Amino acid sequence: MAKDKVVLAYSGGLDTSCCIRWLQIEKNLDVIAVVGEIGQEHGDLQKIQEKAMKMGALDCRVVDMRKTFADDFLTKEIAANGLYEEKYPLISALSRPLLSQYCVQIAHDTGAKYIAHGCTGKGNDQVRFETSIEMLDPDIQVIVPVREWDFKTRPEEMEWAQKHGAIVPTTKASPYSIDENMFGRSIECGILENPWNEPPKDIWKKTVDPADAPDTPTTLTLGFKQGIPTAINGEEMDLVTLISKMDEIAGENGYGRLDVVENRLVGLKSRECYEAPGALAIITAHKALEDLCLERELLHEKSLLEQKWATNVYNGQWFGPLMQCMNAFIQTSQRYVTGEVRMDLYKGTCTVTGRKSDYSLYDYRLATYDREDNFDHDAAAGFCELYSLPAKTWAANRRAMRSKTSAKANTQAKANAQGLSK
Ligand code: ARG
Repeated sequence: MAKDKVVLAYSGGLDTSCCIRWLQIEKNLDVIAVVGEIGQEHGDLQKIQEKAMKMGALDCRVVDMRKTFADDFLTKEIAANGLYEEKYPLISALSRPLLSQYCVQIAHDTGAKYIAHGCTGKGNDQVRFETSIEMLDPDIQVIVPVREWDFKTRPEEMEWAQKHGAIVPTTKASPYSIDENMFGRSIECGILENPWNEPPKDIWKKTVDPADAPDTPTTLTLGFKQGIPTAINGEEMDLVTLISKMDEIAGENGYGRLDVVENRLVGLKSRECYEAPGALAIITAHKALEDLCLERELLHEKSLLEQKWATNVYNGQWFGPLMQCMNAFIQTSQRYVTGEVRMDLYKGTCTVTGRKSDYSLYDYRLATYDREDNFDHDAAAGFCELYSLPAKTWAANRRAMRSKTSAKANTQAKANAQGLSK
């Protein structure tokens, strides 16, 4: 009888390599490994695939997910200026629902009943995988080998691997846990676990040290159409290319490093370093264009929603009903976010120096202090009067009450004084 099948989100690393053998041995399942190409530094994907097949996987599919990632995930992320706790551009949080989506699709194509992932029980990524899969197909069962096996240490895991024919990476293990895709890199663990320790220089790969960056700024313009970046210096390009170009330019100028303590969904605080030069430069420019093109009430409401949006993505709710509704709001808000932003990238900074749009709501004649001024100054007098009316009423009442109490206190003091002199 044919065995049941499990789709495994596979990276080629130690944990997911052990997962292949473990699922075969402990669960008696046929493994279909899925490797997502999402713009990570991964060495040879073909080798990773061969390794899976050598370990007896039924199939190993290498899937280029970059375009879907850009078109279906990053466009929304940029439109939402998605920064968790106002800092982190959701690099890893965005890739888990993407990987889940492909795993579910491949499970359907192959008739697999199970999906497995290699995330640990302390992080957010497990929640993102499992919530996404649950929302996409509640009939699929998720298996999490890492939560079931009981290797206490890395050497223990290596020993198991050796005994059971798991082919593990031969390169020296990094002292950090790194997760990477075309939107940025997340670096955690090792000496970073002490939040007082300065991030060692060797953790950074996409950015130069700001002190070593060129002494003259790089100036560029970023063009947007309906909230989506489409051109650098007037040259149109697809989003995958644009992000990687922005990564390069901003990274060369030492921009895009973050060192933060963040609140994980599972309740603990963790120290994280990120580098996302292109992503952060794009979001900075996008916000500047929104400042120009969005009407005040919408802009303010959207900025409140953005924080909720980012928290929801962080918490693995990508496919949930609230996200769908928030995305509808955000998408509508982007209809006129079309124009250009000029910025300087210089020694670790990204400074917006100009913005323009056919849909600009900036009205020179309203704003100027020059002769062309056509702002209604008379209306301002009435506006100020009515706008301050509640505050004025409040202040008058408090002053009246204060003088009443001090009059009373005076009388009392006088009476006391008389009493004492008797
Ligand atoms: N703290 C970040 C997040 O939850 C980064 C996670 C990185 N994942 C990893 N396996 N190193 O999104």
